[in-house]
Formats: sequence, structure tokens, C-alpha cells
Amino acid sequence: MIAVNEPLLNGNEKKYLNECIDTGWISSEGPFIKAFEERMASQTGRNFGIAVCNGSVAIDVAILALGIGKDDEVIMPTFTIISCAAAIIRAGAKPVLVDSNPGNWNMNVDQIEGKITKRTKAIMVVHIYGLPVDMDAVMSLANKHGLKVIEDAAEQHGQTYGGKPIGSFGDVSTFSFYPNKHITTGEGGMIMTNDQSVADKCRSLRNLCFVPEKRFIHYELGFNFRMTNLQAALGLAQIERLDEFVAIKRKMGSKYTSLLKDVSGIELPIERSEKAENIYWVYALVLTNDVPFDAAVAMKKLADKKIGTRPFFWPMHEQPVFHKLGLFKDEKYPVAENIARRGFYLPSGLGLKSDDINVVCDAVMDILTK
Ligand SMILES: Cc1ncc(COP(=O)(O)O)c(C=O)c1O
Repeated sequence: MIAVNEPLLNGNEKKYLNECIDTGWISSEGPFIKAFEERMASQTGRNFGIAVCNGSVAIDVAILALGIGKDDEVIMPTFTIISCAAAIIRAGAKPVLVDSNPGNWNMNVDQIEGKITKRTKAIMVVHIYGLPVDMDAVMSLANKHGLKVIEDAAEQHGQTYGGKPIGSFGDVSTFSFYPNKHITTGEGGMIMTNDQSVADKCRSLRNLCFVPEKRFIHYELGFNFRMTNLQAALGLAQIERLDEFVAIKRKMGSKYTSLLKDVSGIELPIERSEKAENIYWVYALVLTNDVPFDAAVAMKKLADKKIGTRPFFWPMHEQPVFHKLGLFKDEKYPVAENIARRGFYLPSGLGLKSDDINVVCDAVMDILTK
């Protein structure tokens, strides 16, 4: 089986993990946490990084730290992972959805302004798969209407938009370090911000809202969302190689494109936008309408040929859990609905061998022509 993802862990990972074991620093206290936070902050051009235990709770903490809560609305894409909408709902606020763009699958920023009401507090952007959201448009809308911006950068470590790092836009940005990400800590996440008070709030929320001078007396409710020194040790070893990892992904993306560009029946990722070059977090395909089967069938056919794949996200407005909560019931977002049904991605991990790409592309051509 050609795995859909394999991380590369052959830098300083073992050395730093051994340091944790040799020194006994294995919990959330220990020098790698600060070193990893500082390295992420410098990579994204932010003042602060707050490490947490995954990218989903990073979004929860970011929203609470911005003071978003009851009766507030946050505009976000329907096409994303459930973590985004779940965090808004858990904070007591309401997610308000926009459709995707065909082509780059990011949120359609032209639909944002029409969704702004008196209750709108923030825009949550999510950079999907490889190309960033049109941040110039988002930032100018946010400035015009006095809205906060939350940037879910989980999938685009090392990407830039107009020369500025992804993870540097808006009030807070969040990252995931799950093993399929450009840099991994096994499980892990981080919130980035320039605002000291937001950073302090994030640190407090991730650590049960302990008050240093009155341990075990709490004035607010927090969580144990701490990252361990072991995870941060991995993260530091990984971020040291971020440029190399980005180059590997771009090489993978161009090889896939060169082999698949003349194959009919599939829409390939766009190589570059006006302000960014695709980073290929995953190499994603959308079946065109003339193909007589959908992504689920294509993925099954590829699995029979021992090729690992993953489906696209399923839109928020089609999630049974949200219908049960009375949300999004009669809403329609045709672009997201189409790509959810006809999109999937191919093996895209950093450990993928060049020869494997040939095998995967042969299999893709085979299932489309036979
Ligand atoms: C856009 C986006 N946001 C958030 C997350 C959640 O991250 P985690 O899996 O670390 O909780 C993911 C995970 O893949 C993601 O793709």
C-alpha cells in the first residue's frame, strides 16, 4: 500500500527526545516548549506562540481569548474541518457560512460582506490544502467593519501570501502539528498572536486558569490543553527543516502535475495564485462532471490498487450534528457540495518516494480510462 501520508523524522528528533528522557523533562514544563514557541513566532513574524495539545483546541482557545461568546456571529467557510464550527458553537456563538471558490477550494470572500450583521464579531479564514485565502480582501473587509480575524493556518506551515508568512494575518492564527502536516509533533497545535493580553489569556486558558499567586483558587474556567516537552522536542527538530520540507512538497506537487496534466476527467490543484505559490499540503483532485462515478468510488478503485487516498471535507451545512442543533438546515452552497462529493487527495506525505508518484499516477489514469 502506498500510504496517504508518511512523516519524515530523520533530523534531530531522536536527539532532542533523548534529551527529554535524560533530563526527566517530559511534561509541559521543560525547555523545548519555549524554544518551539519562539521558533514558531519567529517563523510567522508574530510576537507570541502558545503551544497546545492539538490544532482543534487551538481554535477553541483562540476564540475564547478574543472574547467571542454568546450571541456573537463568526463568518467562516462551510468547506473545512468540523473543529472550526465546533469551537465557535462551544463558545456560545454562531457560525455563519460562505461557499467555496471553484479552483482553489478556499472560502469565497465575495460572499462575506453580505453575511455581516450587527452581531458579527469575526471572520475565520481557513487556508485549504495548498493555496491561501485572498487575505487582502479579508483584511480590508475586517478593517471596514471593525471585525476580528482568526486565521486557521493548520494546513499551511511555511506558506506565504504576498511575501508575508501564513500565520501572521489577523488577530490570532492557529496551527496543527498532526503527522500529516508540514511539521509534526505527533499531536499538537499552536496559537500565534502579536497581542500580549490575548497571549496571556491563551496561556491561562490552556492551563486551567491557574492564578500563580493563589494556586488552586480559580476565577475563570480553563482547560488542560498543554503540550508536552516531548512533543515540543519533536516540533523543534521539525521546524529546523521547514524550508526543506516545503521544497519537498512543491517538488511532489510539480511531479504530480506534470504526470497528470493531460489526463481528462480530473481537475488538478492550481499551481499559483496572484500572491502565492501552491504548497501542496495535500495533492488534491476533483473529478469533472463527465466522469460517471464520484470520489468514493474512485477512492475504492484506487484502494484496490493499493493506493491510499482521503476524501475531501464534508461541508458544515450538511453535518447531521449541526442540523440537530437547528443550524444551516435549508442552506445550500453548491461549490462546496460538489467538491465534497467529487474531490479526494492522493498520497502526499513528506516520506513519499518519487517512484511512488509514478505508480499513483498510472493507477489514476487506469481508473479513469478503464
Ligand atoms: C484546517 C484545519 N483546521 C484544524 C485542524 C485540526 O487540527 P488537529 O487535527 O491537530 O486537531 C485541521 C486538521 O487537519 C485542519 O485541516
